Amino acid sequence: MTTPSTDVLIIGSGAAGLSLALRLAEACEVTVVCKASLDEGSTRYAQGGISAVLDATDSVASHIEDTLVAGAGLCDPEAVRFTAERGAAAIAWLSALGVAFTRQGGDSASAGPFHLTREGGHSHRRVVHAADATGKAVSDVLHAACRAHPHIRLLERHMAVDLITRDGPRRGERMCVGAQLLDLDIGAVQSWHARSVALATGGASRVYLYTSNPEVATGDGIAMAWRAGCRVANLEFMQFHPTCLYLPAQGSRVFLVSEAVRGEGGRLVLPDGTPLMDRFDPRGDLAPRDIVARAIDHEMKRLGIPCVYLDIRHRGADFIRAHFPTIHAQCLAWGLDMTEQPLPVVPAAHYTCGGVVTDLRARTDLKNLYAIGETAHTGLHGANRMASNSLLECLVFAEAAADDIHARLPGLSLIADADEAPSSAPKPCAETVTLHHNWMELRRAMWDYVGIVRSEERLLRAQRRVALIRSEAEVQWTGHNSDPDLLELRNLATVAELIVRCALQRRESRGLHYTLDHPQTDPHARDSVLIPDALSFPLHAMHWEG
Ligand code: FAD
Ligand code: SIN
Repeated sequence: MTTPSTDVLIIGSGAAGLSLALRLAEACEVTVVCKASLDEGSTRYAQGGISAVLDATDSVASHIEDTLVAGAGLCDPEAVRFTAERGAAAIAWLSALGVAFTRQGGDSASAGPFHLTREGGHSHRRVVHAADATGKAVSDVLHAACRAHPHIRLLERHMAVDLITRDGPRRGERMCVGAQLLDLDIGAVQSWHARSVALATGGASRVYLYTSNPEVATGDGIAMAWRAGCRVANLEFMQFHPTCLYLPAQGSRVFLVSEAVRGEGGRLVLPDGTPLMDRFDPRGDLAPRDIVARAIDHEMKRLGIPCVYLDIRHRGADFIRAHFPTIHAQCLAWGLDMTEQPLPVVPAAHYTCGGVVTDLRARTDLKNLYAIGETAHTGLHGANRMASNSLLECLVFAEAAADDIHARLPGLSLIADADEAPSSAPKPCAETVTLHHNWMELRRAMWDYVGIVRSEERLLRAQRRVALIRSEAEVQWTGHNSDPDLLELRNLATVAELIVRCALQRRESRGLHYTLDHPQTDPHARDSVLIPDALSFPLHAMHWEG
């Protein structure tokens, strides 16, 4: 059987992966694979919007400054500038593709200026949106454009298992030449070769018990890149969104109530109606997310209450229905009318600020391997991502990766003699009880010990438990390589280990990482960079030649 091949293999079909596919498709043949349906990923659920400087009173300098402040001293200023400068062009690109962003006056069909909303950390109205369902509007348009393109092949229910690598032409250099894909319908793993590979697999928030993220967010790209020999960084900065709907009967996937609700005047209050945030930060309800989530956590523990409340009733029913139709309808379906009552909310895991280390061209340490979107660590977010900077990062770095791949394509060839496992027949997992137990145990340990407030003792407890679960998953995996749940557990356990390692390494509190043992913020900000044992090639290997 011949090994299938493609010019560029893109793993992931969110905003990052599909933007890259569209940017490349005129020049080469692209294959996009995703492990669920095409539209299942965090992108589709994005609510608030995409940050971009589009108002005459705003400036790129101000967007940069707000991002740096939210990032608590750890952002890479170059990455921040690179991203902020490209915001308006990214919105123009989406708009030209057909995304109907809300315009001033509320009419998405008019040609007037975009309506800009506000979110935490932004000192201006700067968030372009499609009512409160921005992700769906973006997803639908990107999917339609990709489906219609003759050079883009879309493979749903194909799960990347591992990257295929081999030695590069330069001494000590490793390169990526493809990936092993598990076809979930037939249960077999097959090798795919590509001239270039891009990881666009999203984040890892499902490492926590309670999360706003969909099921696919299991950190697969981060784990695969780490196993293949790439550096990862700043994984201790897992972002908890302050306002997820508190519905105890709902299970572990929680519904997000957009920060834009606070941007449009919503206030966090205690059960007796007392405003919460004024005592914690002069920016009040629109302080950066780390500060708001920590304040809620503090008040819930101090008062022994299961949630706090988000109250926007004063804006009136018409305004609320017009600006937040999705949130309003979804809450109503659960019996909560936000026009008449404050919504019960709690923080939940939401965003992975760290990830696979890349440069401004989205290159990783492995030659021909790119990482884009939530799976990457570009340096944009520092110790705390500012609201609505994530979709922007997906778009900007997809374009950067496309430019780099495009320029390098003439020199890139398919390489078939890689160090790869042969394609294999289905081997399902014989016993699922241990698998399910370990899934729950891992996510609960991370929730209880590696949450909003940490301590060395809690982190060490987590480290011991996670190490055991990871080693059991590795052992189980070698025998049963077609079980997607086991593969996800293996990846989640790997990422959990990396999160804890980064957290133990950081002996200060900064941004999203708050530890009782080191409440101070050090004067000098340092990234937590982890280097895999497999990294035999020189550091900064992303300066590939050719
Ligand atoms: P995703 O959109 O998550 O896509 C990941 C893709 O990778 C999926 O196709 C998945 O199937 C695939 N995949 C994963 N593993 C594998 C594998 N092993 N093999 C094959 N395929 C795989 N950000 C903003 O900027 N503004 C917002 O308003 C906003 N709101 C949000 C609201 C919610 C509820 C959530 C959850 C997030 C929100 N975010 C927001 C964050 C933002 O949506 C995400 O960071 C962004 O969409 C990530 O895009 P992505 O392309 O990197 O990954
Ligand atoms: C939200 O709408 O609150 C989510 C925005 C984000 O995560 O950037």
